Amino acid sequence: MLGFSLAISLLSATLTSAATICNGHAELCGKSFGNVSFVGAHNSYAVGTNNLAVNQDYDITQQLNDGVRMLQMQAHNQSGVIQLCHTSCFLYNGGTLEDYLKKVKSWMDANTQEVLSLLIVNIDNLPAATFGAVFASVGLDKLSYAPTSSPMTASSWPTLGSLIDSGTRLISFLDNTANPAAVPYLIDEFTNIWETAYDVTDPTFDCNVNRTKGDTATQMYLINHFLDKIVLGSPVPDIDRANVTNSASGPGSLGAQVDTCVAANGRAPNFMLVDFYEYGGGSVFQVAAQINGVTYSPTSPIATPITGSSSPRTSTTGNGSSPSLINTSQFAACLLIAVGVALGASSVL
Ligand SMILES: *[C@@H]1O[C@H](CO)[C@@H](O)[C@H](O)[C@H]1NC(C)=O
Ligand SMILES: *[C@@H]1O[C@H](CO)[C@@H](O)[C@H](O)[C@H]1NC(C)=O
Ligand SMILES: *[C@@H]1O[C@H](CO)[C@@H](O)[C@H](O)[C@H]1NC(C)=O
Ligand SMILES: *[C@@H]1O[C@H](CO)[C@@H](O)[C@H](O)[C@H]1NC(C)=O
Ligand SMILES: *[C@@H]1O[C@H](CO)[C@@H](O)[C@H](O)[C@H]1NC(C)=O
Ligand SMILES: *[C@@H]1O[C@H](CO)[C@@H](O)[C@H](O)[C@H]1NC(C)=O
Repeated sequence: MLGFSLAISLLSATLTSAATICNGHAELCGKSFGNVSFVGAHNSYAVGTNNLAVNQDYDITQQLNDGVRMLQMQAHNQSGVIQLCHTSCFLYNGGTLEDYLKKVKSWMDANTQEVLSLLIVNIDNLPAATFGAVFASVGLDKLSYAPTSSPMTASSWPTLGSLIDSGTRLISFLDNTANPAAVPYLIDEFTNIWETAYDVTDPTFDCNVNRTKGDTATQMYLINHFLDKIVLGSPVPDIDRANVTNSASGPGSLGAQVDTCVAANGRAPNFMLVDFYEYGGGSVFQVAAQINGVTYSPTSPIATPITGSSSPRTSTTGNGSSPSLINTSQFAACLLIAVGVALGASSVL
């Protein structure tokens, strides 16, 4: 009898250790990571209001709470410290990578049935080991998935369930200098993912391959679905159209670009980077849910847009890790300087 109940408790322990809800849905546990579509926050750290250099209204904790599952960022070497800046740390400084990753770690610790991706744009070509040291310092190395081979085809990724069960729920991509021998969990982006064009100003988003270093027939892929307008020669987010751009259907919408992509590739995008994700009232998450064959049913209402983009706006989320926010007129002056000294703003904004 004792043996029987022991067997039962062992069995139930075994059963309960397998994730039954993955990223909010039982249906996703058995799906390969490479066959799930995720909403990503473009320049996730560039948060603020009344500032042309920001791409988001809300900080990453709110982004994650609302359903964003890829955080994209631009990393700069600022006097030997990795900081998240937009184009240059003079224009916008979103604080240190370490402070940012601490927030990621806290959120992951509080949300144990979630798989999350990071996409790091390594502007200053810092070595992978420099990033690895910061991941390790906040304990994210232990939550990170290291592929057994690279590149990975979309279909060869583990299931969300197995990533959650093994406790390696963080998938991190580096756009250059990945070095699996040094840091196995910082995964080379372009041999594993292809991208559509970014800094698009034509709302007819196409689905053409813009950047890759691999086999686009089998790689995962990412669409840059954020619309820019040109201000003083540089692309800046077209926030006035953000609700249309983020919509589930209609001309210029996220849904329309997904349709274009499915028609062209026979499969949906894996990652969809957007600006001001909450514009559209959750429409971006609806698009992902539809691709994934699940129902979008947030447990609480998502954040609401902070309106009045052309007049001074007040941040409702504080200043995070003390970014040096600048206002619109200051930014215009900075842009003129930036263009003047040819910082190459258009290639990194
Ligand atoms: C980072 O910046 C510091 C100081 O500006 C410099 O000494 C160092 O060489 C840079 N590191 C890399 C890897 O470029
Ligand atoms: C990629 O997109 C940019 C615009 O964002 C364009 O200038 C460039 O020609 C494109 N490259 C390719 C190979 O399609
Ligand atoms: C976008 O917002 C504008 C202004 O608030 C509104 O008139 C329009 O109906 C919205 N469009 C969509 C697709 O939500
Ligand atoms: C997942 O696979 C199905 C079936 O092939 C496909 O329709 C869907 O677009 C895929 N989703 C992604 C994100 O690859
Ligand atoms: C901004 O950050 C600084 C430094 O962390 C802090 O002293 C200040 O109180 C913050 N301001 C707001 C409005 O949160
Ligand atoms: C923005 O900066 C300009 C120039 O420094 C200043 O005159 C203006 O008062 C600032 N506006 C706000 C809302 O801070």
